[in-house]
Amino acid sequence: MIQTILLKNRPKGKPTLSDFQFVEEKKDLNLQEGEILLETTYISVDPYLRGRMSDAKSYVPPFEVGKPITSGIVAKVIDSQNDKFQQGDYVSGMMDWKTQQVSKGEGLLKINKDLAPLSAYLGILGMTGLTAYCGLTQIGKPKAGETLVVSGAAGAVGSVVGQIGKILGLYVVGIAGTDEKVVMLTSDFGFDHAINYNTTEDMGTALKTACPDGIDIYFDNVGGPISDAVLFNINKFARMIICGAISVYNNTEIPKSISVHPFLVKNSALMQGFIVSNYSEKFPEAMKQLSTWLMEGKLTYKETVVEGFENTPQAFLDLFEGKNKGKMIVKV
Ligand SMILES: NC(=O)c1ccc[n+]([C@@H]2O[C@H](COP(=O)([O-])OP(=O)(O)OC[C@H]3O[C@@H](n4cnc5c(N)ncnc54)[C@H](OP(=O)(O)O)[C@@H]3O)[C@@H](O)[C@H]2O)c1
Repeated sequence: MIQTILLKNRPKGKPTLSDFQFVEEKKDLNLQEGEILLETTYISVDPYLRGRMSDAKSYVPPFEVGKPITSGIVAKVIDSQNDKFQQGDYVSGMMDWKTQQVSKGEGLLKINKDLAPLSAYLGILGMTGLTAYCGLTQIGKPKAGETLVVSGAAGAVGSVVGQIGKILGLYVVGIAGTDEKVVMLTSDFGFDHAINYNTTEDMGTALKTACPDGIDIYFDNVGGPISDAVLFNINKFARMIICGAISVYNNTEIPKSISVHPFLVKNSALMQGFIVSNYSEKFPEAMKQLSTWLMEGKLTYKETVVEGFENTPQAFLDLFEGKNKGKMIVKV
């Protein structure tokens, strides 16, 4: 039996389970020359999928209603009519939310399960690790001794950004949503300081106290009032990497924010939107560096692994409730 998850409706506001549809079909997948049969092992659920569920213009086309959702997947080759892939190989790439599927292998990367656990290729050695490395180094241009603030700090991207910041000699402050995550940031990931935005009334003052020398680099994963508070504490020539804005992804109206212009002018500061796919020429360098730091024990990572294909939509919804620590992944 092959199971597929389709987009049933375009969500209005916060997505719900009723926006997804499960389909089950009994069919033999016969391979043509050049094709491979894949069995899904791990599925990555990511906040950016929310954007693709709506039909607003963006940097990737929207999902089609009635068609499968796609995301980063690790799969096992269970049959092959393609010389480049053998039975038993593992691959990663963008695939449909299906338990099994046929592919021509285009855009799929063979991965080495002896180098790192398979799930790592969806996180630290996958899209979110590349995002952290490329965003911080290419836009943040960090210099040892500077102060880095990271929002969404306990998540897949944020937890890696903060650790890279420490490796590069920065003073690192993380912002996350629970006391448990705040403790994890300083004790497990080596951040210098962390702030729970849910229990902090005045984020501006909290950041001022946490960053006595002001903020040189802001890695923004969340947008909204947290990022507004950062603006009051930036230094001259600050760099702000606008990687994500999860706090407003489910808004039904255009979010109201303070005007950034005076902050940018006064501080000669840079605010730049970041999309990881624009940095593909940096991926080999990033992968090499991330793997080296992992092997040297300088970098670590956490995963929240949800078991069962049928729980994929719920795992995605849980990202908006902060239920993950590190990368949220579904084990099929
Ligand atoms: N531009 C790119 O190329 C690119 C690539 C990858 C990811 N991203 C973006 O980077 C951000 C992080 O992605 P990720 O994959 O690492 O996800 P993640 O941080 O692992 O998971 C999402 C986290 O967001 C936090 N969150 C949820 N609602 C929030 C709210 N209203 N205010 C503040 N925080 C909230 C939750 O943590 P708390 O418990 O701390 O609230 C949750 O754990 C997302 O905005 C994503 O879209 C962008």
